[in-house]
Amino acid sequence: MFAPNRYPLLFLTVFVLVVGSLGCDGSTPTEPDRDIPDVDPFEMNARLARGVNFGNALEAPREGEWGITLDARQFQRAKEAGFNTIRLPVRWSNHASSTAPYTIDASFFNRVDWAINQALSRDMNVILNVHHYEEMASNPRDHRDRWLGLWKQIAEHYRNYDENLLFELLNEPNNQLTASLWNEFLDACIQEIRLTNPTRNLIVGPVFWNNTNSLPQLQLPADDDNLIVTIHFYEPFMFTHQGAEWVNGADAWLGTQWFGTTQDQAFVTNILERAAAWGTTNNRPLFLGEFGAYSQADMFSRVRWTDYVAREAERLGMSWSYWEFMSGFGIYNISNDSWNEALRDALLPPATTAVAKR
Ligand code: GLC
Repeated sequence: MFAPNRYPLLFLTVFVLVVGSLGCDGSTPTEPDRDIPDVDPFEMNARLARGVNFGNALEAPREGEWGITLDARQFQRAKEAGFNTIRLPVRWSNHASSTAPYTIDASFFNRVDWAINQALSRDMNVILNVHHYEEMASNPRDHRDRWLGLWKQIAEHYRNYDENLLFELLNEPNNQLTASLWNEFLDACIQEIRLTNPTRNLIVGPVFWNNTNSLPQLQLPADDDNLIVTIHFYEPFMFTHQGAEWVNGADAWLGTQWFGTTQDQAFVTNILERAAAWGTTNNRPLFLGEFGAYSQADMFSRVRWTDYVAREAERLGMSWSYWEFMSGFGIYNISNDSWNEALRDALLPPATTAVAKR
C-alpha cells in the first residue's frame, strides 16, 4: 500500500510530475506520450524535397465549395508520380467557435486526420498549416488569441504523430499583420506549440505573402533549432496570375508569355539567390512552399517557367511544393483521372523521380 508519510520524496516527485504535466487550465497533457525523433531541420528539409499543395479543398470555406473534395485516389496518384510531400492548406478558422477556448469541431478534426493519414500511410511528409484566416490579416490584434487557441488544440491533437508531420504557423501573413507584429506573434505561437511538440520541425515565413523581399525583417527565436523558413514565388506576377479571377486587373495580363530568355531566367534566379543567401547568413533551411502559373497562361510558358523555378530551387538547396495539384494551377485532372503530363514532368523530370521516390 502506498503511504505518503513513509515515502515523502517519492510522493513529492509523483505530485510534481502529475501537476507539472497539466496545462494552466489543469486539463492539458503536455509532452508527447512517446519519443518523436528530433530531426535536424536541414535534414528534414532535404526529406521534404519535392512536394505539392492539395489546395482548394480544406481551405475552401467548406470542403467541396471550391470544386475539390479529397479522396484516397488523389493521394495515391501524388505518391505514384513521385512527390515526397503534401502541403495541406486548412481553414481552421471556419470550423472553430469564436469564443475561448475556440473549440475546433470534432468532425472537422476527423476529416483533417483522415487527410493527413492518407499521406503519412503512403510514406509522404505532410505540412499542415493555418490557411485563409483572413481576419488575421485585417484585424490581427483581435484574432491573435484565437489563432493561438487553434494552435494549442492542433499541436496537442497531433503531438504523438511522427516527425514527418510538420506544422506551418500561418499562410502568407499580410496587410495589418506587419513585420514587427508578426515577429511577436510567431514567437508566442512557437512557445505554445513547443509545450506539446518540443522538437517537431515548424515552418514559418516572412510577411507580405511570404515574399522573399521581407526575409530580412523576419525574426525567429534564436534558440529554436527546429525551424524551416518558407517563401512563396509567383514572379513575374503578371505572367503567373494572368486571368486570375481573384486578382484585380489580371485580365489585362492575358497573353503574357515566359520564354525563358537569359533575361527572363536572370530575373527569377536573382530573387531566389537573394533568398538563398539570407538562408545561408541566418543558418536556416528554405522551403519554397508555393509557386505556380495559372491555367490561363499558355502551356509552353507554364512548363518552361515551372521547370526553371523547380530546378533553380533545387540547385539552391531549397525544398519545394507546387501550387497546386488538381484545381486552377493543377497538374492532375480529377474528373477523368488523367495528368497534365508536360507540367508533371516539368516538376518531376522522369529521369530523376526514381531518386526522389527513394
Ligand atoms: C495563396 C492563396 C491561394 C491562391 C494562391 C495563388 O496561397 O492562399 O488561395 O490560389 O496563393 O494566388
